[in-house]
Amino acid sequence: MIKETILVTGAAGFIGFYICRELAKYDVNIICLDNLNDYYDVNLKTHRLSELGFEADNFFIENEVYQSKIYLEKLKFIKTDIENKKNLEKIFEENKITKVCNLAAQAGVRYSLKNPHKYINTNICGFMNILECCRNYNIKKLVYASSSSVYGNNTKVPFKESDFVDFPVSIYAASKKSNELMAYSYSHLYSLNTIGLRFFTVYGPMGRPDMAYYLFTKAIINGDPINVFNYGKLDRDFTYIDDICEGVVKCINENKESKVMHKLYNIGNNKPVKLLDFIKIIEKNIGLKAKLKMLPMQKGDVLTTYADTSRMYKDYCFKAKTDAEIGIKKFIDWYKLYYNINI
Ligand SMILES: NC(=O)c1ccc[n+]([C@@H]2O[C@H](COP(=O)([O-])OP(=O)(O)OC[C@H]3O[C@@H](n4cnc5c(N)ncnc54)[C@H](O)[C@@H]3O)[C@@H](O)[C@H]2O)c1
Repeated sequence: MIKETILVTGAAGFIGFYICRELAKYDVNIICLDNLNDYYDVNLKTHRLSELGFEADNFFIENEVYQSKIYLEKLKFIKTDIENKKNLEKIFEENKITKVCNLAAQAGVRYSLKNPHKYINTNICGFMNILECCRNYNIKKLVYASSSSVYGNNTKVPFKESDFVDFPVSIYAASKKSNELMAYSYSHLYSLNTIGLRFFTVYGPMGRPDMAYYLFTKAIINGDPINVFNYGKLDRDFTYIDDICEGVVKCINENKESKVMHKLYNIGNNKPVKLLDFIKIIEKNIGLKAKLKMLPMQKGDVLTTYADTSRMYKDYCFKAKTDAEIGIKKFIDWYKLYYNINI
């Protein structure tokens, strides 16, 4: 059997890092790709890369191939932008890539109100480049990140993959829904096997500093107030990173032939938590009280996220198992260690 070579885009990102580390346990080669943009602290991205064994003298040079010092020839890192079609084609040309996991994207709902073009450039045009490479280089399977945000303000819960999702309330959500439509076209036209994964609020160690749980932790430790939108009346199906990772890797590794070329799955915890309860768990683990600044609902935000996870369970026998109490403890322990905080 030919050894798989898997391209993971967004590999220096929160989810991408964990996926690369998990995939490295299997007998596969992995090409890790990221443009290392400065949407949030680049040091956290290079820290994740160093955990994968990638070191640069001063900074990573565009298009240079770095070999992992931990996983050796099994893992390579290339700093490239998926918006750059030529660079991307060169990577497909030079490596016998068999599967692709596309996680590179401009993430974040709130930033999409400030800089909507970025979402079109990366999430739509960059994703188009990925699809074209998949078509032209005979890729067996494309697994890509969608988002729970496609459900917008749907009121029927839990959210099912078969629900109507034509009302995205942000350009971020619209870009993810567009990815699902684009992938469907490529599956239909070119028999490309595609799996879109709707992630539900992913959290954990080495997470994203722009996300609420990270901002709350930082503010509580610094004694600053935290912004609590919609006066705390929000529910989120917080999903721990290890669970996300297990689900994604199952989708990548599965080699069963299927007649259905385009599939969509929720990956969520199936247990929404009230925002104020989530804050209490953070407070308990830090050992400090939060100063709450109650604010109205933000534009682009949704009231509830709640995943129906039965489809994923039926096809992959996978269900998330980490409760917020356990997951948040692991995050806070990491946070204190990483930022050298003693309280
Ligand atoms: N974290 C969540 O809660 C969540 C929820 C739903 C969906 N998602 C999706 O999952 C994926 C991964 O999210 P994450 O939380 O790890 O975010 P992240 O921002 O930590 O990771 C994304 C990575 O992609 C890279 N990137 C961005 N634009 C790029 C480009 N043009 N070319 C190459 N690399 C580029 C970034 O540098 C970053 O390292 C994204 O597609 C995101 O939209 C995440």
